[in-house]
Amino acid sequence: MSPLPQGSVTARAPAKINLALLVGPLRPDGFHDLATVFHAVDLDEHVTLTEGSPGVRVTVHGEGAGLVPTGRDNLAVRAVTAVAARVGRDLRRHGVTITIAKRIPVAAGLAGGSADAAAALVAADAMWHAGLGRRQLTELASRLGSDVPFSLHGGTALGTGRGELLDPVAVAAPLRWVLAFASGQLVTPAVFAELDRQRAAAFRAARPLRVAMPSLAVPVRLLAGLRLGDPAAVGAALRNDLEPAALALSPLLRRCLQRGRSAGALGAVVSGSGPTCAFLAGDDSHAAALAVELTDQGVCRAAVTVGGPVAGAGLVG
Ligand code: C5P
Repeated sequence: MSPLPQGSVTARAPAKINLALLVGPLRPDGFHDLATVFHAVDLDEHVTLTEGSPGVRVTVHGEGAGLVPTGRDNLAVRAVTAVAARVGRDLRRHGVTITIAKRIPVAAGLAGGSADAAAALVAADAMWHAGLGRRQLTELASRLGSDVPFSLHGGTALGTGRGELLDPVAVAAPLRWVLAFASGQLVTPAVFAELDRQRAAAFRAARPLRVAMPSLAVPVRLLAGLRLGDPAAVGAALRNDLEPAALALSPLLRRCLQRGRSAGALGAVVSGSGPTCAFLAGDDSHAAALAVELTDQGVCRAAVTVGGPVAGAGLVG
């Protein structure tokens, strides 16, 4: 790799999967109350900031680069702009170039855009010696998106509120996963809207019987399995309330989940709003064999093995 120009800072941030994702009713602000167990895995985005001519420019390369917006709706741009505003730096006079090296597929349920935002927050804080610290960075992160605080935090954590309120979860032993990438993307608001539609239809069909409100209690067996280092218990307790909505919008995912289960995965779940499917493996060789099986059977675009939990956003080098 060529050396970075002077005045450059690079930070990395991980992809996440959701080991449990329980979704409550739609709130008046357009979000849903959640209880989720986030888990950071070693598939990283790298974001480099370089001081330069006036304004903010974005270059993206790597996985799905052509799908990433490069204007003001890019989350890394919004992150850098937020830090600049906090430290009183005028980007119209002293600009910055943002270079994003993508490894996390776009709109895949893995929080790739949130990882870009978290890495950009950390890089901007370091480049401008802002000294914002975790508390202020987390506050900025939660304004950028529901998953951005976890991309900063990393590890394994219980997320509540709309996902931005975090409490660490104890994990006794590292876990090995296979991520099966789908050919298309799923747009998060559309998946939540499909869940609301399905729930409203179930409510109408059940009348005059009462339909129970969705519970936001994370499975105790999941938390116990993580704390005790018992992957079979973790695999059996994986759960995602968004999965039926993701399957309705992307029916091919059902075959992918079934194929992974019949190939011996300890658990299988759609990650977040999908369409990535996550499979828990017993160890490295099991993960490698599962990845080969999923790609050979043509039920996904590509499959990679990853491990978790890993640290949240941090400087590189
Ligand atoms: O927070 P973020 O910008 O990632 O959310 C994207 C969209 O996903 C929201 O506009 C909303 O439609 C949906 N969402 C939700 N409830 C959440 C998080 C996200 O409905 N807790």
